[in-house]
Amino acid sequence: MPLVRTADLVTFGRGVAAFNVITLEHAEAVIAGAETAGAAVICQISENAVKFHHGRLGPIAAATVALAENSSVPVGLHLDHVTDVALLHQAAGHGFGSVMYDGSHHDYAENVARTAEAAAWAHAHGLWLEAELGEVGGKDGAHAHGARTDPGEATAFVAATGVDALAVAVGSSHAMTDRTATLDHALIRELRAALPVPLVLHGSSGVPDDELRQAVLGGMAKINIGTALNVAFTGAVRESVQAHVDPRKYLAPARDAMSAVVAHLLKVIAG
Ligand code: G3H
Ligand code: ZN
Repeated sequence: MPLVRTADLVTFGRGVAAFNVITLEHAEAVIAGAETAGAAVICQISENAVKFHHGRLGPIAAATVALAENSSVPVGLHLDHVTDVALLHQAAGHGFGSVMYDGSHHDYAENVARTAEAAAWAHAHGLWLEAELGEVGGKDGAHAHGARTDPGEATAFVAATGVDALAVAVGSSHAMTDRTATLDHALIRELRAALPVPLVLHGSSGVPDDELRQAVLGGMAKINIGTALNVAFTGAVRESVQAHVDPRKYLAPARDAMSAVVAHLLKVIAG
């Protein structure tokens, strides 16, 4: 099955999960888990993952595209949390259907100006653009569940920037290793009613299954998950690494553990 466009996967009224890909094993696990669940999925590569690969986007993107093209389920490719415009401009050449420009750390006016420019560039290159308003905490390691996106400001932001989807702050926080976040479901419904574009939930690893399901029913369309895979990966490596020298002996169970998490979460989100 060829890669599909993100725009075809993220639509009103249904949930699709987007999993962060750091290594080849992540990409293999995400696609295997999606095949087990029989659900479409998005593989996303973040700016931080590109930094990990010595600033090179090409190799991990090419590996993910190759795996996606041989998948039995639809797979989209998304470039995530981009703050560097030079990286944004690389998205068009590597098979991405979409990109998130993250200007949420800027003040409102600066976020609007930078995001509008990113959206215009993305649309001129056939890409779907996600932006963020009301910074979802935890990107710097400190959990902040308190930030909330204002529906009036979000409506004005979408109109002023022309974005295709909006990441909103509704109670989740990045990089949580336990699943204890509580979402503001009334705010999700309010944002869904106010905005003409699909909503994106970041920091979804910390959100319990029933909260995720309720969020999708309330209008969250793209559910971003990263840390949950790393918890599974690292847990499995810790269990087997002492006994082996060959990395395949501990990376195989780590990949299987991530794949099981993907299959489970896809049943919760897209099932
Ligand atoms: O953009 C990626 C997600 O927001 C991942 O967040 O690692 O807390 O699941 P997470
Ligand atoms: Zn995020």
